[in-house]
Amino acid sequence: MRECDVLYRQIHQLVPLTDGPRDGPVRGDDLGRAAVLENAAIATANGVVLEIGPDEELAGRYDAAAELDLSGYVVVPGFVDAHTHPVFAKTRENEFLLRCRGADYVEIAKQGGGILSSVRALREIDEDTLEERVRTRIERMLACGTTTIEAKSGYGLDLDSERKSLEILQRVGDALPITISRTMLAAHEVAPEYREDPPAYVELLCSRILPELRPLADSCDIFVEEHVFGIEDARRICLRARDLGYRLRLHVDELSPLGGTELAVEVGAASADHLARISERGIEALAASETTAMLLPGTIFFLDKPAHAPGRKLADHGAIVALATDFNPGSCYTWSLPMIATLARIHYAFTPQECLNAMTRNPAFSLGLDHERGTLHEGKACDFVALDLPDFELFGYEFGDNPVALTVKDGRPVALNTRDVDAGLLERFS
Ligand code: NIG
Ligand code: FE
Repeated sequence: MRECDVLYRQIHQLVPLTDGPRDGPVRGDDLGRAAVLENAAIATANGVVLEIGPDEELAGRYDAAAELDLSGYVVVPGFVDAHTHPVFAKTRENEFLLRCRGADYVEIAKQGGGILSSVRALREIDEDTLEERVRTRIERMLACGTTTIEAKSGYGLDLDSERKSLEILQRVGDALPITISRTMLAAHEVAPEYREDPPAYVELLCSRILPELRPLADSCDIFVEEHVFGIEDARRICLRARDLGYRLRLHVDELSPLGGTELAVEVGAASADHLARISERGIEALAASETTAMLLPGTIFFLDKPAHAPGRKLADHGAIVALATDFNPGSCYTWSLPMIATLARIHYAFTPQECLNAMTRNPAFSLGLDHERGTLHEGKACDFVALDLPDFELFGYEFGDNPVALTVKDGRPVALNTRDVDAGLLERFS
């Protein structure tokens, strides 16, 4: 008998993505592959997957310190949300109301609302209160099955407040059972002090903010948009960031077709995000590249824009596609990746299998975490989600409720959302 910490047993359906490659993304026809194992088990020790396989076989082979019955659940790898903005002080429901009455997102921003109103609020709030709010938001993500996030700063826009934002993410990542990849987004807007002289802000970014914050962030992001940073400024910031060793992730072609996607491919960005206004050339360039197409259908839904990104076309052309929430107070106030799966099924005609690969292994690849997370291959982190669905084919079909009954991070149950599983479970495993 082999020993293990926990044996998760009698899983109704397990979709571990182990029929695909261990590392790296899937694209083209492989995006739709995700084999289902019936009545399966997962053995875990020291936070990693020891083995997955038929329940009876593993039960006969393992001496488990604890067992948990997951009959009735569909188990999939933990979700990876590779585009979030959780470090803000206040929600912006006033703007939501204005937008619902016909005001435009960009017009609100030009009048000092939008990102700049979040900047004012973040600079004023005390650090402990802000940290508590960020923590609460990230706990909600865990409850919705997200076990890894990419999280951006970007509501500080000066050295101290951007540093404060990244340090909060570092502390929350240490305190909560979630993996956080931090992104420096001081190029989210032109800082209020530089409204009359935007080039001076670009200079400050390149000479001071990027180098000083490098130790606190894996990636650097830029909002490439007509009313924010144009292509030339963005290229300059990208090249500087790349020299400093940041991975690049770019907000591109969201509200206007500026050609940011082509720039993302040119500079070798890890991801090109949004893409609602991507050009034909952009689609071709992305499909032929290693840059992940980060699709954010929640934003188009929440801003009620007429056209979604061409997710189906990108997938069919062979781009590496991923799905993320874009959780933020202005353009997409949801932390639920299952909700995003529903939007991807409707607007991109993605299958449950395509959604799953785009919510796990592909975003993990874009973060450089695919060798340790994103699928349930033996030796990788035991991050998974038990969905309260009768069959995997219903993934993304049911919406408006949280389908996640249990989130397991590094082998251990960390969020519970069902009465079926013993309520003392989390305490027993903490
Ligand atoms: O991804 N595009 C830039 N940033 C966010 C919106 C931020 C905000 O409105 O606060 C986005 O849509
Ligand atoms: Fe965003």
